[in-house]
Amino acid sequence: MKITRVCEIQNSMKELSGKIIRVCGWVKTSRESKTIGFVEINDGSSFENLQCVLMAEEVENFKKISNASVGSSICVTGELVLTPESKQPFELKVIEAQIMGGTGDDYPLQKKRHSLEFLRTITHLRPRTNTFNAVFRVRSETAIAIHKFFYERGFIYVHTPIITGSDCEGAGAMFHVTTLDMKNTPVTENGDVDFKEDFFGREANLTVSGQLEAEGFALAFGKVYTFGPTFRAENSNTPRHAAEFWMIEPEMAFCDINDNMDIAEDLIKYIINHLEDKCPSEISFFNKFYDKELLTKFENIKNSEFVRIDYTEAIEILENNNDNFVFKAFWGCDLQTEHERYLTEIVFGKPVFVINYPKEIKSFYMRLNNDGKTVSAMDMLVPGIGELIGGSQREERYEVLVKRIDELGLNSEDYEWYVDLRRHGSVVHSGFGLGFERLIMYVTGISNIRDVLPYPRTAGGF
Ligand code: 4AD
Ligand code: MG
Repeated sequence: MKITRVCEIQNSMKELSGKIIRVCGWVKTSRESKTIGFVEINDGSSFENLQCVLMAEEVENFKKISNASVGSSICVTGELVLTPESKQPFELKVIEAQIMGGTGDDYPLQKKRHSLEFLRTITHLRPRTNTFNAVFRVRSETAIAIHKFFYERGFIYVHTPIITGSDCEGAGAMFHVTTLDMKNTPVTENGDVDFKEDFFGREANLTVSGQLEAEGFALAFGKVYTFGPTFRAENSNTPRHAAEFWMIEPEMAFCDINDNMDIAEDLIKYIINHLEDKCPSEISFFNKFYDKELLTKFENIKNSEFVRIDYTEAIEILENNNDNFVFKAFWGCDLQTEHERYLTEIVFGKPVFVINYPKEIKSFYMRLNNDGKTVSAMDMLVPGIGELIGGSQREERYEVLVKRIDELGLNSEDYEWYVDLRRHGSVVHSGFGLGFERLIMYVTGISNIRDVLPYPRTAGGF
C-alpha cells in the first residue's frame, strides 16, 4: 500500500478524511490503558507528529504497538479522522500496525530534554529530535529560498571548483590537497616540498571562496551566483567559525557597491518572508525555546531599511564608547565581533552595512577608492551574530589590481587568469559572500554553528 506522508495529510486533510492510509515513521511517545493506546509518530516530512489511536479489541498486536519503544520505526495503517476540536487537527484510527526496527533501553534519545552539547556527540541520531528536525528543515527551506531569489532575478547558478590553486582571501588559511606520500615527500634543491611531483603538478588546496572563479562567469553571464562548500583552516574555536561551511556568492557585472547592498538587503528580506510562509511551526518553536525575540526580529527586518555607514563613521562611534570593549577601537583596526555586535545591537538595533574599510585590513581584489586609503568593501552586520555578509566592488582596473597584488607580495602566477579578465571587456562589478550557517543561526536563534551543520567540522576535531 502506498505510504502517505504527514505533510501530504496536512495539505489534503479534507480529501483524505475517512480514507484508509498507511503512514511510516519513528515513535516519539507511546502510552496505553487497558482498552486504548496512543502512539505518536514523526515521519520527518513535517515538524508535527501524527497521533495514532489503537483500540485493544480492534488491533491484533495491541500490546506490542502501544508499548512501542521511543525511536522504533513503525508502519501504521488506519482511517484518517479529523479532530477539529482538539490541538492536533487529525489522528489515525489504527487497523493494523507493524514495528519495522525496534530500539533498546540504550537508545539515547529517551523522552526528556537533552543538552545541545550532548546531542553533538550523536550527530547521526540528533536529526530525530524536535530541535534538529526544525533546524534542518529550515536549512533546507532557506536553500530553496536562495535559489528561488536568484532564479527569479535571472541569475545563472555556477558550480565553482572546490579544488583551487589561488587563495581568494589571501589569508593563507587553506587546507592542502595532495597525494604525496607524507612520510616521504619529494623535495626540491632548496629543500622545499616539490609539488611538481604532486597529483596536479602544482600546489593545490580546498577553496576558501568561489568568488574569483565566479567573477569570470559574471563577465560572461552578467549575473551569477555560487552556493557551495568552502573550507578554512583558521584555528578559531568560536561559536561562529567552522572549518567546512557553505557560502552563497552572487557576482554581478555592471553593478556597483550600492546595487550590491540593495541585492543583499532584498535577499535577507526575501528569505525571512519565505520562511514565515513555509516553516511557521518551526519558527514559532524557535521563538519559544531559543530566541524569544525571533518573531519581533523578523518584523523588524522586513519593515526597516538597513543602516549604511562608513567605516570611519563607525570607528568614531566605537571610539566614543571604547569603555565597553576589551579591544579598543581605532581607525585602521579590523572590527572585532564585540564592535560589530555593539553597532548592530546597541547603536542601531537592526542590520547595518559598514562600507569603505582601510585597504590594509581587506582583500587584494577590492576596488581602491579615490582617497587611496580605503576600499569599496561592505560587510553586513546583524544582531546576535556580527558579520553575516562580506562583499565589495571589485577592482576592475588592470594596473591598479596588478599593483595591489605586488604590494601584498602575493604570487602573481596564481592570479594570472584573474588579472587577465581585466584586459578583456573589464567592467564595474561587485559581489558578496553570505555565510549560510551564520544565516541559519540568525533565522533560528541557535547560538552555536555546530548546531546548524549536519555533521560539523571545526578546528580540533569532529
Ligand atoms: O568575509 P568573507 O571571508 O568573504 C569572502 O570570502 C569573499 N570572497 C566573499 C565574496 O565577496 N564573494 O566570508 C564571507 C562570509 C562571512 O561574512 C561569514 O558569514 C562567512 O562567510 N564565514 C564563515 N562562516 C563560518 N565559518 C567560517 N570560518 C567563516 N568564515 C567566513
Ligand atoms: Mg569578511
